[in-house]
Amino acid sequence: MSEPRQILVTSALPYANGSIHLGHMLEYIQTDMWVRFQKLRGNQCIYVCADDAHGSAIMLRAEKEGITPEQLIANVQAEHSSDFADFLVDFDNFHSTHSEENRELSGLIYARLRDAGHIATRSVTQYFDPEKGMFLADRFIKGTCPKCAAEDQYGDNCEKCGATYAPTELKNPKSAISGATPVLRDSQHFFFKLPDFQAMLQQWTRSGTLQDAVANKLAEWLDSGLQEWDISRDAPYFGFEIPGEPGKYFYVWLDAPIGYMASFKNLCARRPELDFDAFWNEGSKAELYHFIGKDIVNFHALFWPAMLEGAGFRKPSAVNVHGYLTVNGAKMSKSRGTFIKARTYLDHLQPEYLRYYYAAKLGRGVDDLDLNLEDFVQKVNSDLVGKVVNIASRCAGFIHKGNEGVMVAGDAAPELTEAFLAAAPSIADAYEGRDFGRAMREIMALADRANAWIADKAPWSLAKQEGKQDEVQAICAQGINLFRQLVIFLKPVLPVLAADAEAFLNVAPLTWNDHLSRLENHQLNPFKALMSRIEPAKVEAMVAASKEDLLASEATAPAGNGELAKDPLSAEIEFDTFAAVDLRVALIVKAEAVPGADKLLQLTLDIGDERRNVFSGIKSAYPDPSQLEGRLTMMVANLKPRKMRFGVSEGMVMAAGPGGEEIYLLSPDSGAKPGQRIK
Ligand code: 2FM
Ligand code: ZN
Repeated sequence: MSEPRQILVTSALPYANGSIHLGHMLEYIQTDMWVRFQKLRGNQCIYVCADDAHGSAIMLRAEKEGITPEQLIANVQAEHSSDFADFLVDFDNFHSTHSEENRELSGLIYARLRDAGHIATRSVTQYFDPEKGMFLADRFIKGTCPKCAAEDQYGDNCEKCGATYAPTELKNPKSAISGATPVLRDSQHFFFKLPDFQAMLQQWTRSGTLQDAVANKLAEWLDSGLQEWDISRDAPYFGFEIPGEPGKYFYVWLDAPIGYMASFKNLCARRPELDFDAFWNEGSKAELYHFIGKDIVNFHALFWPAMLEGAGFRKPSAVNVHGYLTVNGAKMSKSRGTFIKARTYLDHLQPEYLRYYYAAKLGRGVDDLDLNLEDFVQKVNSDLVGKVVNIASRCAGFIHKGNEGVMVAGDAAPELTEAFLAAAPSIADAYEGRDFGRAMREIMALADRANAWIADKAPWSLAKQEGKQDEVQAICAQGINLFRQLVIFLKPVLPVLAADAEAFLNVAPLTWNDHLSRLENHQLNPFKALMSRIEPAKVEAMVAASKEDLLASEATAPAGNGELAKDPLSAEIEFDTFAAVDLRVALIVKAEAVPGADKLLQLTLDIGDERRNVFSGIKSAYPDPSQLEGRLTMMVANLKPRKMRFGVSEGMVMAAGPGGEEIYLLSPDSGAKPGQRIK
């Protein structure tokens, strides 16, 4: 036997200002399956991740919600952790980049780079928001496209004509934060001298560390010459202040990948058998793999290895890049209900259905993966329920009825036993090479053979005949042994199915090498259904709920979601614009849940001379809507009526708070009368 490998694995760190959706889950599920495979094989494999907690977007969002960035990132970390756990993504550690370990390691790496001469400083001229008192990243500047004159375009590219430009080329620029006209201002910035690592990167990117398509893409950048990388941002910024440089902060992308090390370091403190240096020092024998999406290749395959090299740490063994997720052949869309949050999926469907579907469609390459919802239902039902689980449910009953649940000894189908054993190395190779699709195809081909053999033997017919009991038992024991091997092969993808099968099989947690042995004279536990079919109605309900997520966010003022969410902050408005809003005191005459909508309440509002029907996404805070009846609130009465799936909404009520249970409907002082205008 070869020595167990020591492997450290990461997935990209999700930003701490948004929910996890099924596009994110593609990466975490892919990584988790690979890690579980390594663990099943007996390797020491450690999987770490963290929330990516820094940057101006997080600072501004917290400000907008009226909470500190620390509170925001704590809330989001709790949400992310439970989403991952419920999708069976089994991190050894899920940490945060806003941690002491990360502060120390970022400081250390920076100091080593600086001392080795890899840091430069120079003055940069940038737009500055004089009202907010901060420099503006390109996405916080809006204005008129210099090419096609489209209005309301971001500072670096036009969504209308696709042009890219410098923010200074934008006509009539405005700060998206305050609405002020930005001014140009100089400031000292710190740069990482990436060109110092050109030769190393030329070699490293071609040394088997990257898929060919990725290496080819990088070659374009490498051949055209690398630029120095701006790693500092000016206060106000949520991040780590650069040691010895007051008012200057590390750019979020500097300390984000260091977050991988920091999460591992944090884990080492709890797991004494892990030695941080053995994994990270130059010359380490351990393997290091990063799983990422194709949009962040430059950070992981250029900047990161260069930073590690410059600071005297080991470089990654490989960076594994995957493509994007599409749903029903198109980019995920909020209005089509295909922008599906992890939690919305989990509210309707089992995580293992998606894990299997992703596995079946994932290859080694960087191609996009399409989640076709019809195909999803069909494939999961046919493969997992119709093929794999079917073997056990066909055989278990006869063993319980005819032999008190004891599997007899003997091999009733040596050619199948042989085929299953022979397939194992190839399935293992496919997992190792992240060709999960091939692994699933080979496993399902075995399941087909097992089912065909059982169908041919037809134990259900034999059971009705005199004197065939031994044959029935031999067939069914063989069937269960084949099922057990399939479960071992599928365990990285379907850990819950595997645990339930282990309980039924009455065996200790299965490892990869257990496929070499079989159960004989073995007592089984009673058989319980291991997996149920996906009902298409559940998928439809998930899509409807995803549309509703959007409607709810549009129908809820407090979190400032919906339209404003596209633009991270509300811009200043003229008085006339404000005066055009017809705000009224409204009496809630009736408040009811909306059948088929998880988040909406239907409110009947009395505004003096008329009644209004309003849908509002506040149900999470008012699970008993009748408590609202008779209460006064405030509404926007001249909002254009909006046709929703459940009816027309004729206005909007006003509430505060971040969302969920924390939504607080606004009320006027006592004495106010329905219909009175708010001025
Ligand atoms: O693109 C993103 O979502 C980043 N938050 C990924 C960071 S990965 C690592 F470098 F930290
Ligand atoms: Zn344009």
